[in-house]
Amino acid sequence: MPHQIRKAVFPVAGLGTRFLPATKAMPKELLPIVDKPIIQYAVEEAIAAGITDLIFVTGRTKRAIEDHFDANLGLESALAAKGKDELRDMVRNIVPEGINCIFIRQAEALGLGHAVLCAEPVVGHEPFAVLLADDLIRGATLPTQALVNAYAQQPATTLLVTRVPREEVDKYGIIAPAGEVNGGAVPVSGIVEKPAMDNAPSDLASIGRYVLEPEIFEILRNQPPGHGGEIQLADAINTRARGGQVQAVTLSGARYDCGSKFGYLQAIVDFALEDSTYGADFRQFIAARAQGLAAE
Ligand code: UTP
Repeated sequence: MPHQIRKAVFPVAGLGTRFLPATKAMPKELLPIVDKPIIQYAVEEAIAAGITDLIFVTGRTKRAIEDHFDANLGLESALAAKGKDELRDMVRNIVPEGINCIFIRQAEALGLGHAVLCAEPVVGHEPFAVLLADDLIRGATLPTQALVNAYAQQPATTLLVTRVPREEVDKYGIIAPAGEVNGGAVPVSGIVEKPAMDNAPSDLASIGRYVLEPEIFEILRNQPPGHGGEIQLADAINTRARGGQVQAVTLSGARYDCGSKFGYLQAIVDFALEDSTYGADFRQFIAARAQGLAAE
């Protein structure tokens, strides 16, 4: 199967400044939504899409991510000794059999594009997925599967996009669609990183899922720093788009921007409301709070 995507890159070397002081010594990717770290949702999504090689691009303070995805035999036997077999199995199966975890260091946080370039020796010459764990997504078809499907139909750099309010375009890479956006993949003629409202080519923002082709590495290697002095992935994708080699798939499902405090709080509330153990009590709690606020 020539178009099968086997490898996924998880850039997790960012500084996470928006969550300081929590992220001074701890990776933001391990912040939990109720009881599961943000990064684990992304890893599960990749595995569900058939990916077998998980490549983490890490930085300083990120060693705990390696520990999270490594076996912890001491913990497993302690849980077994206490008769907590269910918990032991849960811990053991965070990375199912047949899935490989590979860790690469990005020595300096020079940008998302640079982080992706760091993965080149492991990715080699094949298409690969990129997942930014900050974007936590729930839905019937998870986005990595949707991108992998689109790539199988039409091999091209494939982005996930969603409409954002005009006043927020300067937070995203905004695409110029070259056709109707109607559910299928749409060709993309360009992408601009964090444009001012007046210069945005659309209100369609690229969010944290990609299928990239290995040609992106050569572009990234020769690319000058862009917005914020960083090596921007969006700039490299723009080069591919100008060559007619990029398409976009529209997000279906709910997205939480867990890189921001507000998005993180929204995710916690929504997941807690639906939690099988605490959901009913939490709904009552929230309803009582809402009544109190309405009465103020
Ligand atoms: P962000 O723009 O969210 O930056 O990076 P950040 O450092 O993680 O967080 P803030 O803005 O300081 O709070 C987007 C993604 O790119 C990764 C981040 O880990 C995140 O997944 N990244 C960014 C890297 O891996 N390396 C970099 O040099 C920059």
